[in-house]
Amino acid sequence: MEQYAIKGGIPLVGEVEIGGAKNAALAILAASVMTDETVLIENVPDVRDVKVLLQAMESIGAIVKKVDRHTYKINGSQINNLTIEDDYIKKIRASYYLLGALLGKYKKAAVALPGGCNIGSRPIDQHIKGFKGLGASVKIEHGLIVTSAEELVGNHIYMDVVTVGGTINVMMAAVMAKGQTTIENAAKEPHVVDLANFLNSMGANIKGAGTDVIRIKGVEKLHKTEYAVIPDQIEAGTFMMAAAITKGDVTIKNVIPKHLESITAKLIEIGCEIEESDDAVRVVSSKPLQHTQVKTLPYPGFPTDMQPQISVALALSQGTSIVTESIFENRFKYVDELTRMGADIKVEGNTAIITGVSGYTGASVSAPDLRAGAALVIAGLAAEGITVVDDIKYIERGYEDFHIKLKKLGAQIEKITAEKDFSKFRFQAV
Ligand code: UD1
Repeated sequence: MEQYAIKGGIPLVGEVEIGGAKNAALAILAASVMTDETVLIENVPDVRDVKVLLQAMESIGAIVKKVDRHTYKINGSQINNLTIEDDYIKKIRASYYLLGALLGKYKKAAVALPGGCNIGSRPIDQHIKGFKGLGASVKIEHGLIVTSAEELVGNHIYMDVVTVGGTINVMMAAVMAKGQTTIENAAKEPHVVDLANFLNSMGANIKGAGTDVIRIKGVEKLHKTEYAVIPDQIEAGTFMMAAAITKGDVTIKNVIPKHLESITAKLIEIGCEIEESDDAVRVVSSKPLQHTQVKTLPYPGFPTDMQPQISVALALSQGTSIVTESIFENRFKYVDELTRMGADIKVEGNTAIITGVSGYTGASVSAPDLRAGAALVIAGLAAEGITVVDDIKYIERGYEDFHIKLKKLGAQIEKITAEKDFSKFRFQAV
């Protein structure tokens, strides 16, 4: 099993390039099969979730051609199967975006029902409500969500909760529906906007993405396009936090600073200096970090996908911080691992009460999920001694070349697979 071995205590210094946004790429790749013409997509991150989605697309007959590491040509004209198997859904929940894409194009789709995920229960009632609102029937049969319609007709759809996945799926189902669809209480995340821009570049008529009311006028069909995915807000935020807790000075390049505002605001509050330019942010951490309050919220609020990383920083900040997780109920699973490294965190329901400590000490810890795994790595970068992070397959779902990028910033980190690799790392790290 692969692990990261980290020798902590080195301030990160230098520049890091951020890749394409995983969550935007997943939605855009799924939507790319909605035309029979060939679509070119650039700035696709080379991460495991993307690879699994591409395999799921190939399994139903889509032609996927890799142009280079980050560029794909997709052609959906040969799709001959409208059922996405359980295997793909088990590996990556976002393969359910093919439900909206196939329903929108072929008026029919079946996708294995996503099971429980390790950050909390994740219902899909709002996706189903949206499909039904457009006139589709939705049944659960043999573990599959089976949806079909004679025709899809635009409608007024009110989302009871702000859901990124629900907004994306309903948007895809509605682009070729008859008439106008209005999605109220829509998610405003940058990747929702990116998907809308992508679909519009294929001939869709979507207005209002990025606000909580999205208006979609159905079009007959979609056509080819060339499109580049936006930079990954969460990858950028993770490096910003890594700079903060290692007392570093890191310029994070190829970002959209506006997407990082909630993260930037919190870093300034806890004592970092931030310089913004058109497509970069520089984080300088030279003073002792201070406590603050954080509540995760839908965009433009503080992202739940950054909650573990900021908690790792707050656990090293002076005073007592309160972190409230309002999106997913089971997102404090990394706390026990962080406690093993010396953190003082008490979780009560959806709130973590964090009392700052003066430092972490290296330990063997396991990544419980993608973002928490990344958070444990950055904790290791700040810890005294050696940290080994296990189960890094979770981290590789969403971070391209994570340890390579960290190494370029001066971190002592290696991917290891065997005891002898660890002995070598320990020997070299002293
Ligand atoms: C997406 C992101 C994930 C991020 C999350 C919140 C992708 C591939 N994943 O996940 O990284 O953490 O947004 O920003 O983009 N809910 C319902 N009913 C539904 C759908 C959702 O009650 O039908 C609830 C969920 O349980 C959760 C909240 O709504 O409490 C937000 O979930 P949602 O925005 O849908 O998250 P995902 O799209 O799954």
